[in-house]
Amino acid sequence: MILKLDRLSKTYPSSDGIKAVEVFSSLDLDLEKGETVAVLGRSGCGKSTLLSLIAGLDSPTSGDILVSGESLVHMNERKLSSFRARNIGIVFQQFHLMPHLTALENISLPLELVHDRDARKKSLKLIEAIGLIDRQNHFPHQLSGGECQRIAIARALVIEPAILLADEPTGNLDEKTGDQLALLFFELVKSINMTLLLVTHNQALAEQCSRQLTLKNGELLNDLV
Ligand SMILES: Nc1ncnc2c1ncn2[C@@H]1O[C@H](COP(=O)(O)OP(=O)(O)O)[C@@H](O)[C@H]1O
Ligand SMILES: [Mg+2]
Repeated sequence: MILKLDRLSKTYPSSDGIKAVEVFSSLDLDLEKGETVAVLGRSGCGKSTLLSLIAGLDSPTSGDILVSGESLVHMNERKLSSFRARNIGIVFQQFHLMPHLTALENISLPLELVHDRDARKKSLKLIEAIGLIDRQNHFPHQLSGGECQRIAIARALVIEPAILLADEPTGNLDEKTGDQLALLFFELVKSINMTLLLVTHNQALAEQCSRQLTLKNGELLNDLV
């Protein structure tokens, strides 16, 4: 099992006159290797919150998250960041590339952080797979939105993570660019049998996944096919 959510709950606590927000309570989910799962749901239902918990970027109020059998909840901050760097790939709607690094350097950064000796070789292979080898020395501001997102996807995959998390990866692109990106994205994910949890409100994108779930009123519902 690659991912297990066990009675996962998240409430943003109240502070300074701000009311507490209970986003969800008691979510369960099991994901096997190579499964691709879409999480659909209206804006504000808690999709990004769910991904940030699984990414270990925020902690749940209660419940547990297991990635490759290891509990994120029981790791200290240091162990968690090292575990995340090696096992979890994340793609955001806003590409979050490093502006002062070239396309190739952005892709190899996660490998440099874990002192991978084959950083350059692995990054070159991926930049080729996303069709941007001739743009390897360009900086993010010299690339289009679609190209930046391809770089961000390569950066997430270069560590060969156990799981790839994507939060509306086409949300910031025009429709045509988004469709082209989705095509490349799924080609890559399927060719390496990557386990994917994809947050989207794009039905067409969701249908590329082997399972579709909807987050609604704090519950993960299986969509009937
Ligand atoms: N840091 C925060 N503090 C308090 N409430 C938050 C915080 N982040 C998100 N929320 C609230 O949690 C709910 C879920 O937000 P989010 O996970 O961003 O939804 P989605 O990604 O599905 O649009 C929303 O009601 C939002 O206002
Ligand atoms: Mg969101």
